[in-house]
Amino acid sequence: MLIFSKKDALQQHLQQYRPAQNTIGFVPTMGALHSGHLSLMRQSLLQNAVTVVSIFVNPTQFNNPDDLLKYPRTLEADAAKIATLDEGIVVFAPEVDEMYDGNTTSAHYDFDGLEYQMEGAHRPGHFDGVGTIVKKLFDIVQPTNAYFGEKDFQQLQIVKKLVEKNNMPINIIGCPISREPNGLAMSSRNERLKPTEREAAALIYKTLQGAREQFKTGSIAQVKGYVTAALATHPEFTTEYFEIAPEDTLEPATVKENRKYRAFIAVFLGNVRLIDNISLN
Ligand code: PAF
Repeated sequence: MLIFSKKDALQQHLQQYRPAQNTIGFVPTMGALHSGHLSLMRQSLLQNAVTVVSIFVNPTQFNNPDDLLKYPRTLEADAAKIATLDEGIVVFAPEVDEMYDGNTTSAHYDFDGLEYQMEGAHRPGHFDGVGTIVKKLFDIVQPTNAYFGEKDFQQLQIVKKLVEKNNMPINIIGCPISREPNGLAMSSRNERLKPTEREAAALIYKTLQGAREQFKTGSIAQVKGYVTAALATHPEFTTEYFEIAPEDTLEPATVKENRKYRAFIAVFLGNVRLIDNISLN
């Protein structure tokens, strides 16, 4: 399996695919790979001549320095997981300087307000960091198709906006959330949960499923009341937000209209922050 750490070498390698109609699939990651990431790669392998996976812990999207410090860096294990899927996958694992050239700061992006909701409100600067690195990676890889998990649904919508605003000819493909057997959305943060917390975390998806049921007949206020009550039965959870929002604007809704809605949640379990979401209609 080819692992590149330099952008020029990666670009040179990818040249062979560009002249013909050979599609390049791209799965950007921060490593600590789990089956959710592997499912994005599987999707890309099915749809493209070559798949590129980037592994880069992006410093500018961490608003909490401790989180950045603790983020697992497991390149060898990640490469082994990718190799079991397909030896032909090309890995791009640069150092920070290769991506930021000594200037580890974000550009400022206008994502038409998507950036101010939910994760944006609770993690200042996060989406500028995401926009900055995804734009840099897209400029290097120039993929035909890029794959993002719906677990970070807000990020997915923001990346679609980034591509639209910069006229980049890239299809952004959202892929369904991969879940552990108890329903917990897969995330590299799950590794930081104690075994009892990991079991208790099943409540998040169970509550979202309950919210979807309630949404069929209840008002938004009623659904919110249901979620608050469901989580209050388990004092180990601290809810940061629960919102119902249309998928296109992500602006928290107070009344139902004829639009496509999703419910979004962020909770702390111990000191681990977990997010999840579910389509409501
Ligand atoms: O979702 C992630 O892992 C990251 O936000 C991404 C898209 C790889 C950018 O660093």
